[in-house]
Formats: sequence, structure tokens, C-alpha cells
Amino acid sequence: MKINDNKVIGIIGLGLMGTSIAAALALKDQKIIAVAPMGSDLDKEAPKRIRHFLEKCQGEGLTGKAPEELMENIHFTTDYADLKSCWLVIECVVEDLDIKREVFKKIEQVVSHEVMITSNTSAIPISILQADLEVPERFYGMHWAEPAYTSPFLEIICGDRSPIEGAEQLYEIAKQWGKEPTLVRKDVRGFITNRIMYAMYREAFHLVENGYATVADVDRACKNAGGQWMAFCGLFRYMDLTGLKAYHAVMGDLFPELSNRKSVPKLIDDIAKANGNGVFNGKGFYDYTPEEAEKWKETFEKFAFDMNRLSKKYAAELEDISNSNNPKQ
Ligand SMILES: NC(=O)c1ccc[n+]([C@@H]2O[C@H](COP(=O)([O-])OP(=O)(O)OC[C@H]3O[C@@H](n4cnc5c(N)ncnc54)[C@H](O)[C@@H]3O)[C@@H](O)[C@H]2O)c1
Repeated sequence: MKINDNKVIGIIGLGLMGTSIAAALALKDQKIIAVAPMGSDLDKEAPKRIRHFLEKCQGEGLTGKAPEELMENIHFTTDYADLKSCWLVIECVVEDLDIKREVFKKIEQVVSHEVMITSNTSAIPISILQADLEVPERFYGMHWAEPAYTSPFLEIICGDRSPIEGAEQLYEIAKQWGKEPTLVRKDVRGFITNRIMYAMYREAFHLVENGYATVADVDRACKNAGGQWMAFCGLFRYMDLTGLKAYHAVMGDLFPELSNRKSVPKLIDDIAKANGNGVFNGKGFYDYTPEEAEKWKETFEKFAFDMNRLSKKYAAELEDISNSNNPKQ
């Protein structure tokens, strides 16, 4: 498949992530066809949210352009037919296999066979999502992180029927968008980050539910241990930096002790079944007044911009050598 990057990209679903991705791409002067599939309140609020993200980006120095000018890159619509001019479509609707399948069907009805279709799914295997497509070979996972306009993260994932060449082209284009992409060469549930993060979540629940530590202590330990170096380097580099042999010695003893539970932990099950949704309704692992929830959201947004600056600064310092010391696999 030959990619024709005409800088027109479709985004379907203008919720939390769809709007964040639209802002990230508008910042890079891509033209966006932003499809609000439901015309829901969430979708109607999308232009306001994107403008807010772009204002923040301008205020934080991520762009010299005014939000109004960048907003001109985005065409809002409820009509899938407007996707015709795109070279790439990013599906970003709710995490529901049947709904995503319906959306792919509607996309394929209007775009030509050369158009690449991707999904921002968090965890549905790409091979399952692509199975019913008319042209499954045009389909990849494109997994963004929130906030997409500050995070350098972008995971490109192959399904069983996605040629690696297409993924490699998407990978190169993602670099032009200012990302530090990762490539998942074979489909695996959870991809890279969610596999690693969920292994951590499982262990965190194990520690709390078995009385070893409180939620707050586990949070503090994560923030002050991994949190202090993970934006600088990854797990393997960290073992190199701090003495690989010690990790080798600990693994033999510790791995058999780690949680390998298969069911959803009761702690989160109880909160979710009582409709708790964290800062979004004030009920989570902690309780929040509306003011506290707002303060956490605002401060997290500010932190993401600072992290963006910090990680770019240190990546630039290591740019000359980071490609030369080849990894073992
Ligand atoms: N939120 C995150 O941090 C995050 C991170 C990575 C990936 N994702 C993934 O991105 C996708 C979107 O997540 P989100 O957080 O933006 O969700 P969201 O709830 O904020 O937005 C969902 C969107 O889906 C649309 N939608 C709902 N029902 C629909 C239907 N029947 N048909 C068509 N569209 C429908 C809504 O109109 C809305 O535009 C999901 O697959 C999610 O797993 C989310």
C-alpha cells in the first residue's frame, strides 16, 4: 500500500481523546476532518475544548500561532462523507467492539481503498478490529496518550493482516508530528504500555488488598520511585544505568512472589459498581469536592506541559548518542 500523505486526516469521535488528538495535529498544521458521530453533548462541546487546549499550548510556548488560526485547520462535521479527502482516518469512539465495527463500516463506505484506517483502541486486539474490514491490510492501531498535544507517546500497532511496511511509514510520519513513536510489530493484547502499566496496577491492588500498604502509600512510592526517572529513560536503560547485575539477582527471588491474579480486584470493582469515576464525579480511590477535583485536573494539565519541556530538553542532550548504542534485541 502506498501512502499519499496529503496532510488531511479524519478523526471520528470528539470525546476526551478525539479532541486532544485534533489539537495535537492542528498544532502541526495538519488539516482535520473532525467527525462527531453522535452529535452528543460531548461532541458539541468539542470545538470549545480544542480551542481551550490550543490556548494552553500557545500560553505554554508550544506554538507561536493563535488558537483561531489553528482552529481553521479543523472542519467539524457529522457527515462521514466528508472523510473522502483524507489519507488517514483515526477512529476514536467508545471502547466497544460492536460500535467500532459499525464505525469502520461507515468509513469504508466513503473512502477509497488506499486510505489508511487506524483505531485509538486502548486494548481491543487490532487483528479482531480489522477482521471484518473490506480491506484489512489498510488497518493499524494508533494508540495515543492523553494529553495528545503534550505527550511524545504514540504507539503504532500491526494486526495479523497489517503489512509491517505500512506501520513503518506511519512511524516515520508520527516523527514529523513531533512524536517519539513506538512500533508493535506483532499484535498483542494491551500493546506495550498497557501490558506494563496493568502489571503495575495488579501489583498495586495486591499490596493494598492484602494490607501491606495503603492506597496513598502505594501512590507516593510510585511517584517518587519510577516517577522520578521514567520520563528520562525506559526500564532497560534504567537497569543499565543503575547496575544490571543487581536486577538479575533480585528477579529470581521476586518474580515468583508477584501477583498473578486473573480477576478484577474487589477494590476497584466496588467503586466502579457504585458508579465512582474518580475526579469526573468526585468518587474514586480518594474522594474529591468539586473544587479539589478541578484543582487536580488543572494541576495535572500544567504538569504535562512541564514534563513535555523537561523530557524534550534531556532527549536533545542525548540525541547524538541515543541511536548509536544499539540495543541487544
Ligand atoms: N481516555 C484516555 O486516556 C484514552 C487513552 C488512550 C486510548 N483511549 C481510547 O480512545 C477511545 C475514545 O476514548 P475517549 O476517552 O475519548 O472516550 P469519550 O467517552 O470521551 O468519547 C467517546 C466518543 O465516542 C462517541 N460515541 C459514543 N457512542 C457512539 C456510537 N454508538 N457510535 C459512534 N460513536 C459513539 C461519542 O460521541 C464520543 O465522541 C476509546 O477506544 C479509548 O479506549 C482513551
